[in-house]
Amino acid sequence: MFSRRQFLNRFMISAGGAYFFMRNDALAVAAKAVSKLNPSLSAGATAADENFWTQIQSAFDVDRSMINLNNGGVSPSPTVVMNAFKRYLDYSNQAPSYYMWQHVEPKIETVREKLAILFGCDKEEIAITRNDSESLQNVQQGMDFKPGDEILTTTQDYPRMLTTFNQMERRLGVKVRQVKYPTPLFKNSDYVDALKSGFTPNTKVILISHVCFLTGQILPVRDVCRAAHEKGIEVIVDGAHSFNHFPYKLSDLECDYFGTSLHKWTYAPVGTGMLYVKKNLIKKIWPLMAAPKEMDENIRKFEEIGTHPAANHNAIGEALAFNEEIGIERKAERFRYLHKRWINRLKKYDNVKFLLDINNESNWAGIVNFYIEGVDTAKLQSYLFNNHRIFTVAIIFEEFNGLRITPNVYTLVSEMDLFADVLEKVAKGEVKEVLK
Ligand SMILES: Cc1ncc(COP(=O)(O)O)c(C=O)c1O
Repeated sequence: MFSRRQFLNRFMISAGGAYFFMRNDALAVAAKAVSKLNPSLSAGATAADENFWTQIQSAFDVDRSMINLNNGGVSPSPTVVMNAFKRYLDYSNQAPSYYMWQHVEPKIETVREKLAILFGCDKEEIAITRNDSESLQNVQQGMDFKPGDEILTTTQDYPRMLTTFNQMERRLGVKVRQVKYPTPLFKNSDYVDALKSGFTPNTKVILISHVCFLTGQILPVRDVCRAAHEKGIEVIVDGAHSFNHFPYKLSDLECDYFGTSLHKWTYAPVGTGMLYVKKNLIKKIWPLMAAPKEMDENIRKFEEIGTHPAANHNAIGEALAFNEEIGIERKAERFRYLHKRWINRLKKYDNVKFLLDINNESNWAGIVNFYIEGVDTAKLQSYLFNNHRIFTVAIIFEEFNGLRITPNVYTLVSEMDLFADVLEKVAKGEVKEVLK
């Protein structure tokens, strides 16, 4: 039996002094699943423990009439997050100028502190935004450039971030250099060398991804940051696909700026993001929406966006709790385990090629991209969905094509096995309609 205090702690939250019941099933389910785990079991061993993962799967209300293998674009939230999100919205709506602004909005500070702890920085270095685009554009467009300054990035960085720099080229007369790197990347030094080859005396800043959104490749960010810092060049890291995907901290990156979306691997509501700016650099970045001078050194200047729902960013708290209960090592190992269900069956076919070095597991976790020689990737994507309701994304890119596969913690082993069954037929050439 719970004491009254335990009951309050566990099932209610405080909002401006008033208590609300919360449907805490998903958190309770995750907590129960973790409590039943053998503590001596490694994250790798837990990856195959279906008793554990069945409980995590039940924390999501997803459409099981399809197999969603495109969780990289945007992820569903667990039920506990959706309930919190809706609850904060309803609560705010009673009298938004009072309940939203005075009760709900101030709790953003708790979320800020939790994000900072998770990332390994000071809470005064974290801004909460609406997505990674907003986070990164604050930095990209907020830097003081003069004509002729150079910005360095790669051909595999995200189009919106490249569009931002390209517009700045037209507007400010800066120059954008994009370097290519090999895919698959077998040697991290090839990536670092490619970037170093783009350094010039005019290079002011580098933008790189922590995880390549096209291939799932985890990139050696710290090596690039160290090389750049030696030359006095700052580094912006696009962490859209890395935060809450696999274990690391800011100290593993050593970057100056970092942006991420929280509606991908963190499972927060759609419309949530995070920006990290190194403390001594905050004052030199102009926010996208103007802020008063007194806020020059305040990270919250990047949150001066006008009236917005407080529900979205507060529900990040529930998403963080859910992640914490699963554990980031277990999560990353589970992703690799789910992928290996199909990779291990497909890799024996000579015509199946991966856009990652799949034998080097420190280079990937939740995203894998592959293609089958002789098979049209776009046709394969359509075939999988039209015939098996397997939802994937075809990456048709200048340098390569492939099908990007992103399962999630709620994905069933049987779903990965069905995917592998279908792919084996394709690899054997039995599915004529996908051939080139
Ligand atoms: C590498 C990368 N950067 C930035 C973004 C933009 O994220 P958002 O649309 O959440 O702003 C994405 C989205 O998929 C991405 O993959």
